[in-house]
Amino acid sequence: MSNDLSQDIKNRLLNGIQARFGTIGELRVQIHGGNAELLNTISQFLDTNDYSMITPLFQELPAAEIDIINTLCNQSSFRSRIKQIALETVYGEQLCPPLKIIPDLDRLNPNAVKTYHFPVLDWRERWIHAILVEYLPNVCNEIYPLMIDAYVHDLSEHENPRIAVVCSHYSWLDDSLRLTRGICFDEKTDDIVEIPFTAPISVNSVQFLCVSPQLHQKYSHFFEDFKCFQVNPYPASCKADNKFACYQCWKEANVTTPDAVLIKKEDCGNRDALSRKFADAFERFFTASSPEEITLIVQPNTGTEGRGTRAFTGSSAWPAFRERHADIIDHGAAIARYDDVLLRRGVGNLLFLENPSAAGVFFDLRFTVAGGLAESGFLMAAREKDFISSPGGGGRIVELKDPLNLQFVVKGTHLPFKLDDDHWEDIVGMAECAAVCVPECKLVGVDIRLEWNEGKNPPMIPYVLDINPRPAGLAHSRFLDTGETGVTQRLWDYLF
Ligand SMILES: Nc1ncnc2c1ncn2[C@@H]1O[C@H](COP(=O)(O)OP(=O)(O)O)[C@@H](O)[C@H]1O
Ligand SMILES: [Mg+2]
Repeated sequence: MSNDLSQDIKNRLLNGIQARFGTIGELRVQIHGGNAELLNTISQFLDTNDYSMITPLFQELPAAEIDIINTLCNQSSFRSRIKQIALETVYGEQLCPPLKIIPDLDRLNPNAVKTYHFPVLDWRERWIHAILVEYLPNVCNEIYPLMIDAYVHDLSEHENPRIAVVCSHYSWLDDSLRLTRGICFDEKTDDIVEIPFTAPISVNSVQFLCVSPQLHQKYSHFFEDFKCFQVNPYPASCKADNKFACYQCWKEANVTTPDAVLIKKEDCGNRDALSRKFADAFERFFTASSPEEITLIVQPNTGTEGRGTRAFTGSSAWPAFRERHADIIDHGAAIARYDDVLLRRGVGNLLFLENPSAAGVFFDLRFTVAGGLAESGFLMAAREKDFISSPGGGGRIVELKDPLNLQFVVKGTHLPFKLDDDHWEDIVGMAECAAVCVPECKLVGVDIRLEWNEGKNPPMIPYVLDINPRPAGLAHSRFLDTGETGVTQRLWDYLF
């Protein structure tokens, strides 16, 4: 047994799941392979079996302690959260210490349960920085790096921790937007713990991660009335979410970004008219002097996580291209049911080589820019022969430990290629320029693709594709200057 009750119960539940359905590894493969029903089935299995799987765990404890533990297990939020963390273990990889769920010890002497450790956090005088989330599964992967960053920042600059980073599901806020429950970092033990707060805690600043734009809008508005510093306020994030607005802003600011044409959704009703708009954009992007094989990106203008983005590849003559992609107009029309349609010239001819014998794959570089400074990042590698690199579109994250030693190859050649200091400086500088378009957003993720044109001046073009006001993938993030894991040090200076 561990010294944490919730972990003991979770492990017991996982044993039950494995005995019934197969190993966690096998289950994950099935779920990620598209068997979405499996997770539902496992969830229902837990609903009907959790008590019978929990009780045998306690047999060796004294009877009085078992009684208290049973009382704790009757707390519905305690039990349901343990069930959820068991499920999230099935679903995804854990990239941080395990989350310990603490029961509500109000009116119960924690010493009564001697076998387990229940932390007591002392936050007098602390600045409470809330990370508000909507999607809880595996959220600790995203918030843990920020908790550590804030802690390291405070210790290096102020001797004592001044900020407490607390992650809260939106349903854990009371009517005055105070926290009634939170996921916190216990500095004494280096644990991540989820605690019900006996007295609700007021928030000093708030950050939105793992939320839909709709929830972001609603709560950003609520927090505005409380004069709470926000990372990032919704109106500013909204601009970052609008790809065409960013494109226009970047063009004015001389940020290199691929050509784009916006087709308003109300102009997409008639297929012939839509097809003509595609043809016009295509002819604007590609000419007779374009490479033999070109790529057209068709995506929702305010999409996120690669949803709805498709890359179409073919010759630079529209009639042949259209013939090859019989479904391209259908894809535009499908997007137009919920969003404006954005067409973009596909860019990027450098391919990433995971190792010398691997096939080169397309990739994006992701930089986290805080207050105008690119501090950290990672690389998103596409699947072989795939154009889209974002993890939501099938890509995977590669950590950026030593960017100048990464191996690339120029598409269509076998010549190995490495970035030098000057290239890197240009790329990082371009990420910082891109963030200037949304200065009110103090923490953004900027995606860049690289194009190499031998003999041209400059030969290296970093193309800015996208800016994300709720950047994810933070568990893989490394500081650009040290290669150490982490996201931001600069953000914490903005809070107060
Ligand atoms: N113009 C482009 N050229 C090359 N690749 C692109 C282009 N636009 C998008 N992509 C690929 O598609 C992915 C998703 O597109 P993006 O604009 O970032 O949408 P989302 O906001 O959904 O992440 C990018 O990460 C990149 O791999
Ligand atoms: Mg993106």
